[in-house]
Amino acid sequence: MEKKEFAFSFEVYGSADELNRDDAALLRLAREATKKSYAPYSRFRVGAAARLLSGELVTGANQENASFPAGLCAEGVLLATASSLYPGMAIDTLAVSYDNERGPSDRPISPCGICRQSLQEFEQRTGRPVRLIMGGREGKVYVIPQASLLLPLAFSGDELA
Ligand code: THU
Repeated sequence: MEKKEFAFSFEVYGSADELNRDDAALLRLAREATKKSYAPYSRFRVGAAARLLSGELVTGANQENASFPAGLCAEGVLLATASSLYPGMAIDTLAVSYDNERGPSDRPISPCGICRQSLQEFEQRTGRPVRLIMGGREGKVYVIPQASLLLPLAFSGDELA
């Protein structure tokens, strides 16, 4: 028997004011994107904004449905949009923010399990890490160097070969 360990480090900023200019602008865009959310059921508006390797900016927001499982997360909408508009283009950095109409929005949220799976395949097929910025409307901000770090031992298309 052998034991293996998985660990990763990430940056924690006291607030968005401590981010560099490009990162702060991307997080602002993600906050703006929450306005395009359709979230009449959860009232939890999520916005995502990405800077592609080519420099283009793409945004997404969660789109809910009365049949709850049909709803789409902001990150999933963003990945599908990026891939549809700029097929094969890698994402350099993706920021996620939210506006919780029922409570505070003052700490980072991290992508759900399904979005982690989509992010890791996006990284795999573009061959580049997706850097993640997570922050609410205020409060601490996390920066994670590579989205797939959030999904150790991921299932991937390699297994289907
Ligand atoms: N949601 C996202 O859009 N991204 C996340 O990372 C977490 C959750 C959405 C799904 C649903 O519309 C609402 O937030 C509440 O779960």
